[in-house]
Amino acid sequence: MSQKIYVDNAASTPIDPQVIKLMVEIMENHHGNPSSIHSHGRKAKSIVEEARKKVAKIINASVGEIFFTSSATEANNTILMRSVKDLGVKTIISSPTEHDCVLRTLERLKSEESVNVIFVDVDHNAEIESATIASLILENKIHGKVLVSLMHGNNEVGTLLDIDKIAAICRENGAYFHSDMVQTIGKMEIDVQKTPLSFISGSGHKFHGPKGVGFFYMNAENIIQPLILGGAQERNMRAGTENSVGIAGLAEALQLYAIHRSENVAKVSLLRDNFENQLLEKIPTAKINASGARSRLPHISSVSFDAGEKGDLLIFNLDIHGISASSGSACSSGIEHDSHVLIAIGHPSQRKTVRFSFSHFNTLQEVDQVVEALLKMQ
Ligand SMILES: Cc1ncc(COP(=O)(O)O)c(C=O)c1O
Repeated sequence: MSQKIYVDNAASTPIDPQVIKLMVEIMENHHGNPSSIHSHGRKAKSIVEEARKKVAKIINASVGEIFFTSSATEANNTILMRSVKDLGVKTIISSPTEHDCVLRTLERLKSEESVNVIFVDVDHNAEIESATIASLILENKIHGKVLVSLMHGNNEVGTLLDIDKIAAICRENGAYFHSDMVQTIGKMEIDVQKTPLSFISGSGHKFHGPKGVGFFYMNAENIIQPLILGGAQERNMRAGTENSVGIAGLAEALQLYAIHRSENVAKVSLLRDNFENQLLEKIPTAKINASGARSRLPHISSVSFDAGEKGDLLIFNLDIHGISASSGSACSSGIEHDSHVLIAIGHPSQRKTVRFSFSHFNTLQEVDQVVEALLKMQ
């Protein structure tokens, strides 16, 4: 196979050519520091503020509720760490299938700040019982404020949270609600006026924008202090010279995705469904993880293959065929094992999971080629 095929879009996405064009234009012409008061600085500042407006509009937030960061990892760290310090959060309710940047932060909050961290059970589809969230909030709110932190779309198996339901439960019971929306922002419509959220995090490189730039939405009702200290950038919420090129790229990419949302989502769903249908027909032992979920992300297909010598080498063999996908395993102390998400959903450890994730830049022909390559590996 001569052409390389990229089906790892949940890990990172190719930058949209229109976004590259805008970023190059800014790099070439607008190098000022947004904090400088001269014309170069003012131009750079206006680029950042234009970007903020675009992001705010897409989720129907106020401009003052959007803050740019270096990544969604930083956004999630900021929200969780500072909610405990500034909002009196004593209990955090989360799930074992969150991203590591949430899980590691919760570990630290538990050990260093004595926060009561509760992980709700997930079933084999990575779904949670929303009634459990309500009763846990009620049980724990006597000890202080409760924050619920649940991702909107799972990055490994694609399960979608019923965000409206959880937001309503949190609102009714007086809990803060943070959602890591890294895999859904742009792809799913979100209106913070309709869905009451305290915090949202997003990342540029997941929706065809640049890497190293993220943002968070913070509802104006709950003000936290910055995690990163220094200058007064981001209205004192995040110190450090703004990555004006990256911020502009993130906002442009998000806007582009939102404008073309219905076509893009229809295209990735078509690719994903075609891939899964072919695979299940041609490789009857293959199984789609979390396929019984009430609702799944349109771009992720997490496939569990029969074990065996070949199964162990699937990712390497795909790579040899020029196909980039993701392994469902993690490596600790040199031993490969299922990722924390697969373990949480009870994936049998003797099977091998590979995550294929599509974007609207993929084609049906590529899907056929991936299926063909997988068939050869059986
Ligand atoms: C669900 C989820 N949260 C957070 C992150 C971290 O985002 P970033 O790469 O911007 O740090 C990722 C990236 O893989 C993710 O998929």
